[in-house]
Amino acid sequence: MVTKKSSFLMSLIKFLSLMPLSTFGFDISTPSSNNGGSWFLLHSSIGISAMHMQILHNNKIIIFDRTDFGASNLSLPDGHCRSDPNDMALKVDCTAHSLLYDVLLNSIRPLMLQTDTWCSSGSVIADGTLIQTGGYNDGERVARTFTPCNDDQCDWKELPEYLSVRRWYASNQILPDGRIIVVGGRNAFSYEFFPKNTLNSTSQPNYYLKFLKDTRDPKEENNLYPFLHLLPDGNLFIFANKRSISFDYTQNRVVKEFPVIPGEDSRSYPSTGSSVMLPLRLTSGNQSQSPEVEILVCGGAPKGSYSKAERGTYISASKTCGRIKVTDPNPKWVMEQMPMPRVMSDMIILPTGDVLLINGASNGTAGWEDGRNPVLNPVLYRSYASDPSQRFWVLNPSRTPRMYHSGAVLVPDGRVIVGGSNPHRVYNFTAYPYPTELGLEAFSPPYLAPRYSYLRPSILSIETPQNVLLYRGSFSISLTLSLYLRSRGIEVMIMTPSFTTHSFAMNQRAVVLNVTSMAQLSLFAYKLVVSGPQKTAIAPPGYYMLFVVHAGTPSQGVWVKVQ
Ligand SMILES: *[C@@H]1O[C@H](CO)[C@@H](O)[C@H](O)[C@H]1NC(C)=O
Ligand SMILES: *[C@@H]1O[C@H](CO)[C@@H](O)[C@H](O)[C@H]1NC(C)=O
Ligand SMILES: *[C@@H]1O[C@H](CO)[C@@H](O)[C@H](O)[C@H]1NC(C)=O
Ligand SMILES: *[C@@H]1O[C@H](CO)[C@@H](O)[C@H](O)[C@H]1NC(C)=O
Ligand SMILES: *[C@@H]1O[C@H](CO)[C@@H](O)[C@H](O)[C@H]1NC(C)=O
Ligand SMILES: *[C@@H]1O[C@H](CO)[C@@H](O)[C@H](O)[C@H]1NC(C)=O
Repeated sequence: MVTKKSSFLMSLIKFLSLMPLSTFGFDISTPSSNNGGSWFLLHSSIGISAMHMQILHNNKIIIFDRTDFGASNLSLPDGHCRSDPNDMALKVDCTAHSLLYDVLLNSIRPLMLQTDTWCSSGSVIADGTLIQTGGYNDGERVARTFTPCNDDQCDWKELPEYLSVRRWYASNQILPDGRIIVVGGRNAFSYEFFPKNTLNSTSQPNYYLKFLKDTRDPKEENNLYPFLHLLPDGNLFIFANKRSISFDYTQNRVVKEFPVIPGEDSRSYPSTGSSVMLPLRLTSGNQSQSPEVEILVCGGAPKGSYSKAERGTYISASKTCGRIKVTDPNPKWVMEQMPMPRVMSDMIILPTGDVLLINGASNGTAGWEDGRNPVLNPVLYRSYASDPSQRFWVLNPSRTPRMYHSGAVLVPDGRVIVGGSNPHRVYNFTAYPYPTELGLEAFSPPYLAPRYSYLRPSILSIETPQNVLLYRGSFSISLTLSLYLRSRGIEVMIMTPSFTTHSFAMNQRAVVLNVTSMAQLSLFAYKLVVSGPQKTAIAPPGYYMLFVVHAGTPSQGVWVKVQ
């Protein structure tokens, strides 16, 4: 397929690509070069504070707050008002508490929520519909759905009394069979499923989970919004406070309890840390076995911090991360020191497999008025650096404190959209020093710097009907690349769109697929043949963003559907 005319150029490029980059004056030693990412203000106000955020597969982010504190700064369209006799602040409210942010157009459209979604949870199911669960007051047992559309007509639908108990501060995870498990919540030591099993009258509406009761600290809880990660063996990893288990939800059975994370720090709300399952790599090892699994938990606050903050003393947050290989026969936490203490930080996996710690504070805890000393610098955790002292890289600061009730979400162009922060009972724009924040910003990680454009792959097409990746199937990707550095390799990463609230990205999942061959089609064009995931427990069915990553530089993501 290579023409004779280009063969000389190709040999030249191959030759050049074997030479060290410094030959050309390029500096790829990223940490020492002064490129710590950049910030861009998208909107100084979108009218609501971004407590909950979910990117949908049509590149719109659904954002919502609570409904029960009074008027927001965004009107409902056409003079519509919400009439809710149970609302605790405004029985007739003509403002919106939810909106759709269009990533491509940078525009917003107000949406109508009826009942209170305060401190709730969510997941996108296989058809791309967002299932949101729980909240407070009249919303505490409601499930809500939002199915994306392209004609601006879609809006929230509410399923009243859907949940079997109130779920306030619960977490969700999408399961291999496409259902969602909803775990915990304040005084809810149980889990349940969406959809409810209405066909089988012998199945229970909810199941008791003692672990949730056992991990609750008497006065401060410190176990809300448990961290959930679906393990490739089908069990659910659950972390709350300082403890973690592998849990078989089909049998209501604890399969294994992992060691307690070392140190005095609690990791769950209101001592809010965060957690990710590092990318599952299907590229190494024995393909008939499950991949190795590592969980990384960062930040939080020492026990007692919340009570102290409530009394006006904001002690230093946790400075550590713990990393554990849960697939080891005798797993152990390995502790690492962050560059600064951090509570209420989001952890967002980037297409490179590195983890961005963003937002949060260095003192106090989550909760109203309980955080101090905002951390304005994101930190990049370089997951694959073998020397732990080389793992953390402090990036360029934002100017806006984003603490309690802020969020962050990865979008297909590789940026991270950041919003929210409202440590007050109501919207308060005069509160000092941390007013309610209605702005929306974009953080461009270092890999988006123009100096790396020559390394950036561009996906031309995913050669499979409707961009569907089949389990155990194989598909090809055509791409262009101006300079292929063979020694730096090429990776294909698929990533779920996560539901982010209270510093935890629910359902966040990154899977590195195995590239079985790479062929050069022409001067700058290549074709990869890639194996899809082997099973649903590795990648549950649904929409993913697919990125091709070369030399630490990701392409723009393309939405694919795994089924
Ligand atoms: C929200 O609206 C109030 C009342 O109109 C106004 O005082 C305030 O400046 C607005 N806040 C923002 C961030 O736009
Ligand atoms: C109904 O649920 C019970 C308990 O979970 C289970 O043992 C049984 O196999 C289910 N029956 C059907 C028809 O799915
Ligand atoms: C891969 O794993 C399977 C199942 O555990 C085992 O039977 C097989 O021998 C392994 N293959 C290699 C090459 O290690
Ligand atoms: C990845 O693909 C290569 C090339 O086809 C193959 O040899 C290898 O076994 C695959 N690895 C896994 C883990 O599937
Ligand atoms: C943060 O914590 C440190 C150590 O406990 C303390 O010295 C400092 O005064 C605190 N900062 C604030 C703003 O409370
Ligand atoms: C807003 O914050 C200011 C300063 O902290 C405070 O005096 C005021 O009472 C607050 N307003 C409301 C409505 O809570």
